Amino acid sequence: MAVQSPVVIAEGQTVPEGHPIVRRMVRFDWSGTQRHWVPDDPFTTHVVNVLHLLLPAGERWFIDVVNKARPLVHDEELQERIKPFVQQESWHAWAHTVVLEHLAEQGIDTTAYTERLEKQWFGRVLADHPRWPKWLQRWWLNRRLAVVAAIEHYTCVLGRWVIENDGLERAGADPVMLDLLRWHGAEEVEHRSLVFDVHNEVSGSYLQRATTMAEVVFFLSLFWVLGVQFLMRHDPSLGGAKPRWRDWLRAARQERVPSPGLLYGAAPRYLRPGHHPIQEASTQMALEYLARSPAARAAQKG
Ligand SMILES: [Fe+2]
Ligand SMILES: [Fe+2]
Repeated sequence: MAVQSPVVIAEGQTVPEGHPIVRRMVRFDWSGTQRHWVPDDPFTTHVVNVLHLLLPAGERWFIDVVNKARPLVHDEELQERIKPFVQQESWHAWAHTVVLEHLAEQGIDTTAYTERLEKQWFGRVLADHPRWPKWLQRWWLNRRLAVVAAIEHYTCVLGRWVIENDGLERAGADPVMLDLLRWHGAEEVEHRSLVFDVHNEVSGSYLQRATTMAEVVFFLSLFWVLGVQFLMRHDPSLGGAKPRWRDWLRAARQERVPSPGLLYGAAPRYLRPGHHPIQEASTQMALEYLARSPAARAAQKG
């Protein structure tokens, strides 16, 4: 286990590295955001837009699972940090839902995709089964926590990537969308250890960690491909154009999207027996972004 150095949030008040500090109530004005918010690059636009498809439903399920595990967490500090985690994730889910509404206004209705995702995946892998025997329900809760911890590994990897890379800026991407991605990414980096630590406290099973990561890599890849295909098919300005694998390599070379190496290389790190999310990124880096994020700064004033 890595040594955790606490983050000082006020005089005499600290939070362990990797745990959420506070909810930031941000607002975004989408009125000036174009359909192709990465100019002349609908592929990159829609690859990133898949986040808006996956996250609203996903994050609501994360909250549900972590809330169910709350009574089983005896570490007081960890218990206390569940509240800001839930608040942050619910705010993220809301922010991405507003983007989906904006996409619909621009002629891309995503309801068919999001409803199918909710029913066929989140509604199955993260749902409750109250009629199951108690011991099986407990195993199922532990397993669901491991699924969420594995996804949170990826939200941290993506969050770090979007803050550290300036490829989207160089491409002239919409600054409001970039701020949304980086504000969300920064909070994912900030709370990157929370679900992992909750899973460790209530289960600690390495086997669960490994098997659920394999499952998450498979399904995230699948949903991303299906999501980009869906968005491009429903984008009225693309005339049915389809995404191609070489588009990914081109956009990755331009640092507009993460490369296959970055994404698939992140899974083996998570499988190392001594892995802990605090090794994945720095809270300081996240807080530095939040200190300059236009939306987070406006939220502080309001
Ligand atoms: Fe989030
Ligand atoms: Fe998260």
